[in-house]
Amino acid sequence: MQRLVLRRKEFSLFQAFIYKNIGISLGDHKIYLVQARLAKRVKQLGLESFGEYYDFLVADRKGGELEYLSSLISTNVTSFFREHKQWEFLKSHLASILERSGGRLRIWSAACSSGEEPYSIAMFLAEHLPNMTQYDIKILATDVSPKVLKIAMSGMYSQKACMSLSDEYLRKYFSPVLVENEAYYQISDMLKKQIIFREFNLVTGDYDLFAQKAFDIIFCRNVMIYFDRPTQNKLVDRFHAILAKEGHLFIGSSEALTDMKKEFKSKSASIYQKA
Ligand SMILES: C[S@@+](CC[C@H](N)C(=O)[O-])C[C@H]1O[C@@H](n2cnc3c(N)ncnc32)[C@H](O)[C@@H]1O
Repeated sequence: MQRLVLRRKEFSLFQAFIYKNIGISLGDHKIYLVQARLAKRVKQLGLESFGEYYDFLVADRKGGELEYLSSLISTNVTSFFREHKQWEFLKSHLASILERSGGRLRIWSAACSSGEEPYSIAMFLAEHLPNMTQYDIKILATDVSPKVLKIAMSGMYSQKACMSLSDEYLRKYFSPVLVENEAYYQISDMLKKQIIFREFNLVTGDYDLFAQKAFDIIFCRNVMIYFDRPTQNKLVDRFHAILAKEGHLFIGSSEALTDMKKEFKSKSASIYQKA
């Protein structure tokens, strides 16, 4: 089969489309990466060029192809209990957060990938709140990619994905299952039912949906790094608007809210509190 070549002119169209619809700004040097990531999809759809794929993308009114494209462009790398210091922070502040919220906790995992982040939140709460049923706790987990959300909703993880979890956690919160002779771990229903999974695009999504929510904690980790500064600032403004008074925002350790000093207090690296 003929090798597909992404021409500069076509790449510019993808650059503009991806920036407008996903918020990711791709530098000119990313042309080969985009070519490599999209070529398989173009062939899979039976199309003959990147130009044809671009037309298909623009004409797709339901947006399914946009979500697919975003999963090809951004990375979904994640793990259980990523960013160790944030869990330590939560451990020492959980009691005061609960006291302030009157026992009602609303937590949003805003780019949840395949679910390790929201399930870590659920395990963390189960572990540190033995009398959990006393509290009104809901975890919302969203991602732009239906592909990773499907894995998240299944709650089924390979042994490799569970490598960072202790035997004790595996015993308490998972059951071992065999799928086609491969060993997997299935997350417990008790944790699963605390989480609501939804598709949501952080850049183009309708934040009015959250108007009544008042989140106590928002996890938006390792996704803003793909966005340019104006998009990051817009996003952080939106988080500020839907956080409860003194709510917390957790970002990735390689990210920072450099322009937002007045609206958020920095509690520690990558942990901010609504001022
Ligand atoms: C590197 S993963 C981070 C997962 C998790 N938050 C963590 O820190 O381990 C980035 C996730 O952001 C999602 N993503 C990328 N662009 C997005 C957008 N515009 N809206 C929502 N999610 C997006 C990707 O689909 C991917 O699952």
